[in-house]
Amino acid sequence: MPRFTVNGQPVTVDADPDTPLLWALREDLQLTGTKFGCGMALCGACTVHIDGQPVRSCSMALSAVEGRQVTTIEAVGATPAGQAVQQAWIARDVPQCGYCQSGQIMSACALLADKRQPSDADIDAAMSGNVCRCGTYNQIRAAIKDAAVVLNKGA
Ligand code: FES
Ligand code: FES
Repeated sequence: MPRFTVNGQPVTVDADPDTPLLWALREDLQLTGTKFGCGMALCGACTVHIDGQPVRSCSMALSAVEGRQVTTIEAVGATPAGQAVQQAWIARDVPQCGYCQSGQIMSACALLADKRQPSDADIDAAMSGNVCRCGTYNQIRAAIKDAAVVLNKGA
């Protein structure tokens, strides 16, 4: 049975090691903030962090998560980057339908944890795998820049 840590809590999931992490999060652990979109690592809706790096949980087998630290949208606000991103998202009223937004936020948080002053090219590179059918891309970019300003003030 795969064992790993989710949002700081050790978990053991009674599932086949080939099961995608997304299924374990949503079905076994009831963490439904992470969304299913394409199931093929193409849309980014299912993005979570593993050891701080953004990954597509729909395409990550539980066997590959053994012993690692998973963070989902439910806990991302616990970090300074996560808090700044969430506040910027609210202030900019970024979401439309909202479906892609957990994944967008997880990718944005990973970017800002890595680079506190991302360039436009950095933002494009980090966010290019997150699709938004509502076209919130301009608001997302503006919110990431706002969050960077807040983060750098607090640094
Ligand atoms: S649901 Fe995982 S990338 Fe689309
Ligand atoms: S807000 Fe609707 S898909 Fe992105």
